[in-house]
Amino acid sequence: MRAIQLEKPQSLRPIDIAPPARPAAHEALVRVHRVGVCGTDYSGYLGKMPFFTYPRIPGHELGVEVLAVGSSVTDLKPGDRCAVEPYMNCGSCFACKRGATNCCEQLKVLGVMMDGGLTEQLLLPAAKLHRSTRLTFDQLALVETLAIGCHAVNRGSPGTGDTVLVIGAGPIGLSVIEFVKLAGARTVVLDLNEQRLAFCRNTMGVEHTILSDGSELEALKKLTNGAMAQVVIDATGSNKSMSHALHFASHTGRLVYVGITTQEIAFVHPLMHRRELTLLASRNALPPEFIRIIQLIEEGRIDTGPWITHQAPFEKMIEEFPRWLLPETRVIKALVQLT
Ligand SMILES: NC(=O)c1ccc[n+]([C@@H]2O[C@H](COP(=O)([O-])OP(=O)(O)OC[C@H]3O[C@@H](n4cnc5c(N)ncnc54)[C@H](O)[C@@H]3O)[C@@H](O)[C@H]2O)c1
Ligand SMILES: [Zn+2]
Ligand SMILES: [Zn+2]
Repeated sequence: MRAIQLEKPQSLRPIDIAPPARPAAHEALVRVHRVGVCGTDYSGYLGKMPFFTYPRIPGHELGVEVLAVGSSVTDLKPGDRCAVEPYMNCGSCFACKRGATNCCEQLKVLGVMMDGGLTEQLLLPAAKLHRSTRLTFDQLALVETLAIGCHAVNRGSPGTGDTVLVIGAGPIGLSVIEFVKLAGARTVVLDLNEQRLAFCRNTMGVEHTILSDGSELEALKKLTNGAMAQVVIDATGSNKSMSHALHFASHTGRLVYVGITTQEIAFVHPLMHRRELTLLASRNALPPEFIRIIQLIEEGRIDTGPWITHQAPFEKMIEEFPRWLLPETRVIKALVQLT
């Protein structure tokens, strides 16, 4: 069976692996049709992702078809099309027992800490498959990226009419924007990159964007009549931005870190104390969020049209991959087509 392996940083290679065994009782055997590539894969390729181990078959954003199911699986059948929740949790730790399967103490993310979907067939726990009768494989491969934004917005829980500042308009920031809009809140997007802000205005229907040029606090103050943002969601992955983000929050506001840094974050405490701020992390996503997203796309309430900017067949992926890292290619989501 064909697969693509990230042997070590900067080195992708085609490999041949044995096909999976028959599914055990709670498993499903699936054919992989589409694999989305994201910042995690780019960081893994560059050797900058702390959770990535090598050699590794990447691929955690998957659109798959069920080929066979184990004897205890009753809600899936061959031919079903599914999105995959790629967070393999233990089921017995403190977090899992509380239903926080997204941050299991032993969590293994498919394609990051265990081999993933850049191959023809995979065995997966059937519970990690979320079915749709209407979505295309392209759309199914987008569900996980959207789930990251969905979870971050659920963590911040903005109310109707609240102002939400999204810092960072990369793919994760864009997925956050989708759910801020659905919450009925006002979206303001801040980035250093004017091209990315223009994409938010022209394609994502965002009315207010702020370029990070030194006047951003004043600009947000003006937009909010001095109140600032009730929810700030930092999707930059920059420790500088994350340390400074408290300044944008209103009194009683909430700050969500969905971006990830390996550096230290620092701020003066009175800033947090005076405003009585709440600081939240957001990791991965939960099963009901996958189900909700599939429904939202089915109902046409999320338009996946603007998302997929680049595609490559499996055979061309290794050749194309380094180009997707270049800012000038303006990739939002690149998909690998296996069929
Ligand atoms: N929470 C999770 O489970 C989860 C899942 C996937 C990715 N992530 C993380 O989300 C983050 C964003 O991912 P992405 O793929 O969108 O990244 P990206 O690099 O494509 O986008 C980041 C954006 O932030 C902007 N930015 C950087 N520094 C800034 C600053 N100081 N002020 C304003 N804007 C700034 C950049 O211009 C860019 O547009 C990464 O840290 C990634 O690791 C988190
Ligand atoms: Zn991803
Ligand atoms: Zn667990």
